[in-house]
Amino acid sequence: MSKLKTVGHPLSPLPSELPPELRGPDWVQANPHRIERELRSALALPSGGWYVLDASRSIREDPRVYWVEGRELVAWRAGTELRVAPNSCPHMGAALSEGPVRDGRLVCPWHGLELGAEKHGAWCPLTAHDDGVLCWVRIDRPDDPEAPDDPPTPRPIVSARPEAFIDSVMRMEAACEPRDVIANRLDPWHGVYYHPHTFKRLKVIGVENGRLLVRVVYGITDRFGIEVDATFHCPDPRTITMTIVGGEGTGSVVETHATPLRHGRSAIIEATLATSDRPGFHRAIRAAGLIRPFILKSQRKLWVEDAAYAERRYALRSGAVPAAGKALSAPTGQGAAQGH
Ligand code: FES
Ligand SMILES: [Fe+2]
Repeated sequence: MSKLKTVGHPLSPLPSELPPELRGPDWVQANPHRIERELRSALALPSGGWYVLDASRSIREDPRVYWVEGRELVAWRAGTELRVAPNSCPHMGAALSEGPVRDGRLVCPWHGLELGAEKHGAWCPLTAHDDGVLCWVRIDRPDDPEAPDDPPTPRPIVSARPEAFIDSVMRMEAACEPRDVIANRLDPWHGVYYHPHTFKRLKVIGVENGRLLVRVVYGITDRFGIEVDATFHCPDPRTITMTIVGGEGTGSVVETHATPLRHGRSAIIEATLATSDRPGFHRAIRAAGLIRPFILKSQRKLWVEDAAYAERRYALRSGAVPAAGKALSAPTGQGAAQGH
């Protein structure tokens, strides 16, 4: 570790004194009560009813099935316009995703009913939005007692993004709830122990406007790494954003979104928007297609491990494995708290 050299823009000096809760060994700083408290604050935020489905580039004209909150939906494009609707045909329930698209309209594979942007009986397209990186759907639940203070908004609540970026979006599924995905990210202290191949050094160095500030070295090789400062915050109850605030790539963001699919199953959709003030960056943007697979590979490698973390957390909360404390809340719809 002592031979590790860091490259990139210099960082500001470390604060001379840390708040008391950020002193001591990492396992003490990673206080489960603190993480749970921050998680509860995130879960209380409004979402406007929006859920991430997938990367913008993953949804084309051909229909694809997505589950959201126990609903089976179909997403497709009419030209460039994103459409999302229930996947069951209003006639006899055929899976519309198995039919073709003709002139931007779904054609039911059983009896040929054509469905587009307009309502047909009980079948009604949902409000959808493509922000250029991610596709979203809005689920309106006017009578939901669980969301009395979360009225629908015209657009998703998205954290600040860089002006020019190379984006890479990873999607994977895990046996957990969205809160387990967010809780994993609210615990940066695990990084250096759980992902030693990527994080060579990681220290929580403060709290800025309620956001944890982390100084981290991303390993390029065993000897070289890039050192940056990053903050974490939740813009909505199912998203946590890491923003590079110092060092190489300042302004880059990593948005981790979690979408509930069906009971105990979630999708993790992570968008990395990498930017740089280096003179050659605009040339790099033109070569994004070559660079993207490398970003994606490292995202996926980390999330295979973090999905296992989130699944373990969910198993503890649900009582599927015996718990060792009382810091975690039970899964949605279960009474007693299970510990960690
Ligand atoms: S089930 Fe779709 S048209 Fe009959
Ligand atoms: Fe992690």
